[in-house]
Amino acid sequence: MPVNTKLKVLVVGGGGREHAICWKLAQSPSVLQIYCAPGNGGTAQEAKTKNVEIAVMDFAGLGAFCKKESVDLVVVGPDDPLAAGLVDHLEAEGLRVFGPRKELAQLEASKAFAKHFMVEHKMPTARFIVAENHQDAVDAVQEHPWARVIKADGLALGKGVFVCDGEEQAIDAVNAIFRERKFGDAGNRVVLEERISGEEMSLLLFCDGKRFLPMPALQDHKRRFDGDLGPNTGGMGAYSPVELYRRCHQEIDEQVLEPLRKALKLPAFNYKGVLFIGLMVASRKVDDRRIYQPYVLEFNARFGDPETQAILPLMESDLLDVLLACTTGKLNEVELQWSSQASCCVVAAAESYPESSSRGEKITISTLPADATVFHAGTKIEDGKLVTNGGRILAVTAVAGTLDAAVSCAYCALHKVSFDSIAYRKDIAKRSGAACLSP
Ligand code: AMP
Ligand code: GLY
Repeated sequence: MPVNTKLKVLVVGGGGREHAICWKLAQSPSVLQIYCAPGNGGTAQEAKTKNVEIAVMDFAGLGAFCKKESVDLVVVGPDDPLAAGLVDHLEAEGLRVFGPRKELAQLEASKAFAKHFMVEHKMPTARFIVAENHQDAVDAVQEHPWARVIKADGLALGKGVFVCDGEEQAIDAVNAIFRERKFGDAGNRVVLEERISGEEMSLLLFCDGKRFLPMPALQDHKRRFDGDLGPNTGGMGAYSPVELYRRCHQEIDEQVLEPLRKALKLPAFNYKGVLFIGLMVASRKVDDRRIYQPYVLEFNARFGDPETQAILPLMESDLLDVLLACTTGKLNEVELQWSSQASCCVVAAAESYPESSSRGEKITISTLPADATVFHAGTKIEDGKLVTNGGRILAVTAVAGTLDAAVSCAYCALHKVSFDSIAYRKDIAKRSGAACLSP
């Protein structure tokens, strides 16, 4: 690509993650124009950005649009088009695309594929069994008292995982997947796992097919209500830095990242895009020391949501340069720079989320504190007005010198946004003082 040329980028998706990607790309002097398909009410108002009404699964439509507008780079946000091979499709049309191809997107799209990868590359992970039918799954639950986490193999909007307390619950989960077909074809197979106790964290890596550069670690809040209660959601808030990561980064590096470095040296594992590693860190006290043991819970083949809204405001490097380097195998030529500040993102959802969504409620956003940004997720512009259009509506992020200050600023900014059914967790980042940090 000629130096000094300004580029056109298409961002595929329409959530808070995609708004944050557009927001960050718009800051790049090398970006001329951003298109977001289909985008949302926030991307519609973002600098250099235009929404395009093409669905994320309309591969032919996306390809034709890129050709017509001479798009230089496509960034794929969501899991579904990655799993269905959007990257392969667009690359076959000669386009430059950020994201893994279909085969490696299975790291997210098939939990069995991911577990086999972890074992092959000797990463610590919970022991498991794969069952292809109802009877085998029931037998596994009855035979193995440790098999209490039941996972539908495929993509299930983050809802296909049951963490069970006993045999009866585990059988109920198996029935929900195989008999009630709650997740359709995503439940044609299940992974049964041992239940691990510990603290979760997210580690996102930029990968160029041969190597990776990590982003600062984050913690997400998946449960809907304060105190980590209620149903699992796409994510109700995230923050960085993570004190636990500071304490156990060596274990993570040796046991999880080193195997990945080796895997990326294999020609078959030319993973390009973001690899998101969901970790559970168990800890125990031995004499006066705390020993940490990381386990890989899952991979996602993309940026996280709302992790992206929390992490990109800390990125000092030009995002376009990094994404291009991932597609050309030249991450070694990039120096990733991050602010040493802290970031906190709180999601404003509809009260009925995750059961149902909100449509058409008027949203108002008044003057925000400096260092706070509102990313839109389920919003749209209707008759010139900003209205709700989804379950998670907005993600409010603040950056400050300390995590406490970032949290206060994020909540202060959140009080500047309103819509009738607004609901949010009031304890984002509170667990940064959790038990595993005690001596
Ligand atoms: P996953 O989509 O595999 O990350 O699972 C969703 C959530 O289920 C995780 O964020 C954890 O909170 C929980 N989970 C998954 N696997 C396990 C496990 N083996 N032990 C305990 N909790 C788990
Ligand atoms: N926040 C977790 C995810 O993006 O899947």
